[in-house]
Amino acid sequence: MSGFFITFEGPDGAGKTTQINKVAGKLRQLGKKVTVTREPGGTKLGEAIRNILLDPQQNNLCSEAEVLLYAAARAQHVVEVIKPALAEGKIVLCDRFLDSSIAYQGFGRKLDLDIIQTVNRYAVAGIKPDLTVLLDVPVTVGLQRIKSKGGLDRIESEKLVFHEQVRQGFYQLSRQEPDRFRVIDASRPVDVVSRQVWQVVAERLGGLQYEDDNHGGAG
Ligand code: TYD
Repeated sequence: MSGFFITFEGPDGAGKTTQINKVAGKLRQLGKKVTVTREPGGTKLGEAIRNILLDPQQNNLCSEAEVLLYAAARAQHVVEVIKPALAEGKIVLCDRFLDSSIAYQGFGRKLDLDIIQTVNRYAVAGIKPDLTVLLDVPVTVGLQRIKSKGGLDRIESEKLVFHEQVRQGFYQLSRQEPDRFRVIDASRPVDVVSRQVWQVVAERLGGLQYEDDNHGGAG
C-alpha cells in the first residue's frame, strides 16, 4: 500500500466533517490525490446500513446487531473504497473508523471489547490508520452543537452518560497508541482547530507547506 490513511474520530458534534473538508481542500490545492469518505457509509451498501443504524425508529436494534452492522458496513468500505484508494497511492481521509466501534459499542454500550476487536479484525482485513486525529470536545458542547443544527439521530439521542463513556473510550485509545493518535481540543473556534489539524496532517505527510490567506504561513 503506497497511500496514506488518516482517520478522524471524536464524540458527536466535534466538527469532524468540517475539518475533513478543510484538510481535503488544502491537500488538493497542493496537488495531492485525496479520497474523502465516511463510516458508516462510503459505499451503496454502507449508506443503506447507515440509514438503519441512525434511524431513531430502529429503537429495538440489539447491541449485538449494532456491532455487526457497523462491521459489515466497514468490511464493504475497506474492500470497495479504502484498499483500492491506498493501492493507487491516494491520501484517504475517513470520517470515523474502527476506533468508533471500540468507543461507542465497547465503552458506550459496554460490550465485550475482545469480541468487537475480533469481528472488526475480519472487517478491516489488515488495514490500519497511519494517523488518527482525535477531535475531542466536552459531551455537552458537542451535543449542543448538534441540537442547534436540527434533530438527534438514534446514537446521538443516547443518554449523557453514554456519550461520556464514549469520550473516555477515545481518550483511552489515544493513550494506548500515542504514536498513531493526535488529540486536538475541538471546543475552540473552527479556524483555530483547523490550523492545528493541518499542522498535524502536514507534519505526518512530511512537512507540507500550505499558504493560508488568513494567516500568511504554513497552516
Ligand atoms: P457521524 O458520521 O459522526 O454522524 P454525523 O453525520 O451525524 O456527524 O457518525 C454516525 C454515528 O455512528 C455517530 O453517532 C457514531 C456512531 N458510530 C458507532 O457507534 N460505531 C461505529 O463504528 C461508527 C463508525 C459510528
